[in-house]
Amino acid sequence: MENKEQEKIILTGDRPTGRLHIGHYVGSLVRRVELQNSGEYKKIFIMIADAQALTDNIENPEKVRQNVIEVALDYISCGLDPARSTLLIQSQIPELCELSFYYMDLVTVARLQRNPTVKNEIQMRNFESSIPVGFFTYPVSQAADITAFKATTVPVGDDQLPMIEQTREIVHKFNTVYEPVLVEPEALLQENEARRRLPGTDGKAKMSKSLGNCIYLADTADDVRTKIMSMYTDPLHLQVSDPGHLEGNTVFTYLDAFCRQEHFGRYLPDYTDLDELKAHYQRGGLGDVKVKRFLINIMQEILEPIRVRRKELEQDIPALYEILKRGSEAAREEAAETLADVKRAMRINYFEDAELIRAQSEKYR
Ligand code: TRP
Repeated sequence: MENKEQEKIILTGDRPTGRLHIGHYVGSLVRRVELQNSGEYKKIFIMIADAQALTDNIENPEKVRQNVIEVALDYISCGLDPARSTLLIQSQIPELCELSFYYMDLVTVARLQRNPTVKNEIQMRNFESSIPVGFFTYPVSQAADITAFKATTVPVGDDQLPMIEQTREIVHKFNTVYEPVLVEPEALLQENEARRRLPGTDGKAKMSKSLGNCIYLADTADDVRTKIMSMYTDPLHLQVSDPGHLEGNTVFTYLDAFCRQEHFGRYLPDYTDLDELKAHYQRGGLGDVKVKRFLINIMQEILEPIRVRRKELEQDIPALYEILKRGSEAAREEAAETLADVKRAMRINYFEDAELIRAQSEKYR
């Protein structure tokens, strides 16, 4: 890899445990579409990680099954184009299990226990001493996801950084112990703070289905309006004339994430930019309703084309399954190549090694 310019390959994905919301959209989907359209990447793989979703949903296989198609609908309606990005379903690539099995030899239990994301998730799920082994080892399986496609670049949220770190360690170990056949991936993070961690409409740290504070990509225009109108703002801003605070004010956090210069010309021409709007709010004299209406206009402008596209796609679900099937098949070919490299490096490729067979016969001659 040193001398030749490495071709850039993306792999990323989501667990299909629910419909995607505008936190996913602004935190990762828009960026994937930009990366796809940049033409800088030789290949792009987007994985619906159903097997990983099952590691903590053993009792809910139907939920995972239903959400595979919801996530696929969300992907394509946001602009992921199956002609340019390979959309695949994790469980349909058995090579990933084989890779995981061998990678497990390269990771200690202590190292997995130290993985901050796993630690945190174990706590959140109250697993305590009843952690499923499959859940505990999912960082290893995620390393298989990434390396199977020789991904150089993994666009993710910062909660996934420990996974990339763990993958890099596995790659390093494998390449040192055996042969350098695996590619060390790099994470690609979202820089805009508000986009990276969009709070829920109630101002709580994160959008999450269980908190009921999400705006979904599939929400109707009415839902979006209602949710924004009841959004958490500044509890001290009781009258329009009161000075308002921006800190923790969800409406302004959303504006930081979604508002662009041209939105002012279209929806709020009295102001030139977000700084001016913020300054007025802080001074007093700007009401929440006016700011919320502005945000509603922006969100409808962004979400309407996605909704329209989703409606179209919903008319032909069999075609969508066909896309996922073809993507999974194409992905499987790639993963099979990597697995062959891995088995060769690990010296477990008995039947394709004529030299081995010859040498063994020599021994008994
Ligand atoms: N762990 C990721 C999530 O919870 C999903 C995922 C599975 C993933 N395999 C991946 C992300 C590989 C990036 C690369 O959202």
